[in-house]
Amino acid sequence: MCGIVGYIGHKEAYPILINGLKRLEYRGYDSAGIALINGETRTYKCKGKVSDLESFIGNQNIKGNIGMGHTRWATHGEPNDVNAHPHISLNGHFTVIHNGIIENYDVLKKDLIKNGYTFKSETDTEVLANLIEYIYLKDESVTVEMAVRLALTKVIGAYGILVAAKEDTNMLIAARKGSPLVIGVGDGEYFFASDATPIVEHTKSVIYLDDDHMAIVERNSLTLKTIQNDVLEPEVTQIDLDIESIEKGGYEHFMLKEIFEQPNAIKDTFRGRVSERNKRIYLGGLHQALPKINNAKRMIIIGCGTSWHAGLVGEYLLEEYARIPVEVEYASEFRYRNPIINEDDVVIAISQSGETADTLAAIKLAKEKGATVIGICNVVGSSIPRETHAGVYTHAGPEIGVASTKAFTAQVAVLTMMSLMLGKERGNTNDDIYLQMIKAISSVPDYITKILEQNEKIQEIALKYKDASNFLYLGRGVLFPVALEGALKLKEISYIHAEGYPAAEMKHGPIALIDDKMPVVVIATKDKSYEKIVSNIQEVKARKGVVIAIVTEGDHVIKHLADHVIEIPDHHEAIAPLLTVIPLQLMSYYIAVARGCNVDQPRNLAKSVTVE
Ligand code: F6R
Repeated sequence: MCGIVGYIGHKEAYPILINGLKRLEYRGYDSAGIALINGETRTYKCKGKVSDLESFIGNQNIKGNIGMGHTRWATHGEPNDVNAHPHISLNGHFTVIHNGIIENYDVLKKDLIKNGYTFKSETDTEVLANLIEYIYLKDESVTVEMAVRLALTKVIGAYGILVAAKEDTNMLIAARKGSPLVIGVGDGEYFFASDATPIVEHTKSVIYLDDDHMAIVERNSLTLKTIQNDVLEPEVTQIDLDIESIEKGGYEHFMLKEIFEQPNAIKDTFRGRVSERNKRIYLGGLHQALPKINNAKRMIIIGCGTSWHAGLVGEYLLEEYARIPVEVEYASEFRYRNPIINEDDVVIAISQSGETADTLAAIKLAKEKGATVIGICNVVGSSIPRETHAGVYTHAGPEIGVASTKAFTAQVAVLTMMSLMLGKERGNTNDDIYLQMIKAISSVPDYITKILEQNEKIQEIALKYKDASNFLYLGRGVLFPVALEGALKLKEISYIHAEGYPAAEMKHGPIALIDDKMPVVVIATKDKSYEKIVSNIQEVKARKGVVIAIVTEGDHVIKHLADHVIEIPDHHEAIAPLLTVIPLQLMSYYIAVARGCNVDQPRNLAKSVTVE
């Protein structure tokens, strides 16, 4: 998704902007551009990567202590040089970069055309730049700041923007509605970005802009206002994010690094919450909402993509251990279908980024209808934790690779803790099970480490099937969502078509696909469905399918049936999703690398989906 960086201060802006744009590359984008302000404004932009932009700029003038940079992920108009940001208004008075979507851009554009405006690009952002200029030029008493404010009151949709004005080359204006914007506070300097990643190497003091707020910033001053012109006191907070944790640390790709970080990520997620010594699981972030949660008649879990898969795992666990009826919905469906929500419903919103537009809109709807909303989120200070009544951070650390790995296991870890904590609170999990489960949960990081030790073996299996056109993933019960997640991981980074199915459903359709060219990944650990899944493997083998089975250590039965087995340590059923997904992540990674795909930034995908 689009990324914003900006700088105003006493240093040269160009290196700060280019470096910042590189830090934002993980979000996914298709063009990039910058504007440098040094008395006059110069813009450079082109289709492609930040490195293409650097080559394009070459030896041109890069002087200036003020500037803004943007990576664009196309929404209105194809990715090309003209549609790339920054956009300059028709008469050159305003330069704008923008994240989000202006929904009424067409109506605004028609009005501007009637008033003599012409457009170079197909973007909604150029409409905004021209709208600000039109308001500014129409009335002599309108100042730069007023023009921005008045224009924003006419906009329907989402924006995070930075604006520079020809009339005041010592100022940048930032504003936000629905699209995140963070301002880093330095000494006589300010940094702007769509998330904190480009800022942390410069300062840890930040101001998060809220919806409908704007900041008018000069080198030594920042004024915070609402777009209705009410002056506000800025709240400076300290962020706890270091630069090492957002760099690759010797791994070839962020995705591989993040897969290998999972033992530590899970430890961090459990830290202070699961205590084997005190025999207790407690999620402090839920404390305030606990009376509501304990009386909940129903839970509705919402999320998108991988986070939705984590929600499906949560459904099984919450029903099993807490005995609460649970429904799981795609946030994008939930928000548009007038759902029946009661005041004694608890909605759990799951999101790595905390900025997913559909999940945010679904949260707002659930709140309007009176539900208590809990967030499970990875990015501290992002929009979702700020919109929810209570919540739990996953503490997986920054996830840069577009394909979610450690965020998924951390989300599942939180849902596992939540199921047990609520099972105990509501008197539905007996002490024996509770204690067994605390022990089981505590062993997860070591078990994952053991699975990761099979890295080379998994790579060898992956290389054998790198040229397959299709894959099928099968699992039963709580491992069915893991099959879905395995299939999603493969398709998004390797572009191989893959489907996840509950194993018993195979005979109702997908079995027709099976032949000797179809690899079938079966999650077949020893649990209550074991005998059934062994039968499913036999059904695949009878049709000459290739079976790659994830089995419990020491399983001799499946070893004789399957073409390949990957063993995971003998474990308690409830932690199986946390373990079985690891080989699937590694297999997808190695297949994608072998096919020459850009695993950290797969085509057409974005890390943070801030548009509907
Ligand atoms: C898949 C993936 C996406 C995200 C989805 C939701 O690997 O990363 O499917 O899970 O876009 O994003 P968040 O969790 O940030 O709300």
